[in-house]
Amino acid sequence: MGKGKLAKFADMAAYPHVFEYPHSVAEQVPFEMKGQWREQFFKNNNPIVLELGCGRGEYTVGLGRMYPDKNFIGVDIKGARMWTGATDSMREGMTNVAFLRTNIEIIDRFFAEGEVDEIWITFPDPQMKKVTKRLTSTSFLHRYASFLKTDGIIHLKTDSNFLYTYTDALVKVNELPVEVNTTDLYHSGQADDILSIRTYYEQQWLDRGLTIKYLKFHLIPGLTLQEPEIEIELDDYRSYNRSKRSGLQTSK
Ligand SMILES: C[S@@+](CC[C@H](N)C(=O)[O-])C[C@H]1O[C@@H](n2cnc3c(N)ncnc32)[C@H](O)[C@@H]1O
Repeated sequence: MGKGKLAKFADMAAYPHVFEYPHSVAEQVPFEMKGQWREQFFKNNNPIVLELGCGRGEYTVGLGRMYPDKNFIGVDIKGARMWTGATDSMREGMTNVAFLRTNIEIIDRFFAEGEVDEIWITFPDPQMKKVTKRLTSTSFLHRYASFLKTDGIIHLKTDSNFLYTYTDALVKVNELPVEVNTTDLYHSGQADDILSIRTYYEQQWLDRGLTIKYLKFHLIPGLTLQEPEIEIELDDYRSYNRSKRSGLQTSK
């Protein structure tokens, strides 16, 4: 039988590469490693890559295995999900992987200007109702820009046509440089070893026959980004009401 949530939380509290600063804690305890991740934790001068909304951390751990000369940090608020990646990386003795359990809304409290090289956003909820909750909205991109190095890269991998269309329009209206843009990654000829890493949610959407969209673009620090003015058709396989979603477990 697998471990229960309490046992996972106990593991997480003891893991040296897991930092737990949900909003309530971050309000009380200053995060002293801001600007010091390389010196104090990774003990190297390698690039830092974040996975936001990492869930079980498939990209964090998968990329960590492929690139021992880069540092990876998975960020999510759900500890029981993150436990999987945290435990795998611990068992494998990986020294280039860490996890930060926090609310992405306060992500700029943990990283200093220019400290991060790349950000992966993997299968986030498209937040069709509220733009400011979307992880690729201007309110989040401005936060990322405060710590992303000049010309840093954002990767978005999503099943959601809504989120893809929104982000594509945002990138275009702000003239952000795009490196890759595909609405059907696995039939685009672009799915290399990196892009073929499959997350838990991704596999479930693939099993339901959805195509995977991928956007890789540069964020330019200092820009004041505009929201796109666009009406987007809602994803018909999602519901605004969580309990009505079928086929996906969302609370694990
Ligand atoms: C749909 S799941 C995708 C998980 C994983 N990336 C995957 O593809 O399997 C979205 C994840 O983002 C996390 N998340 C969403 N909004 C967040 C926020 N504002 N702060 C922290 N985590 C958030 C959720 O807890 C959840 O684990």
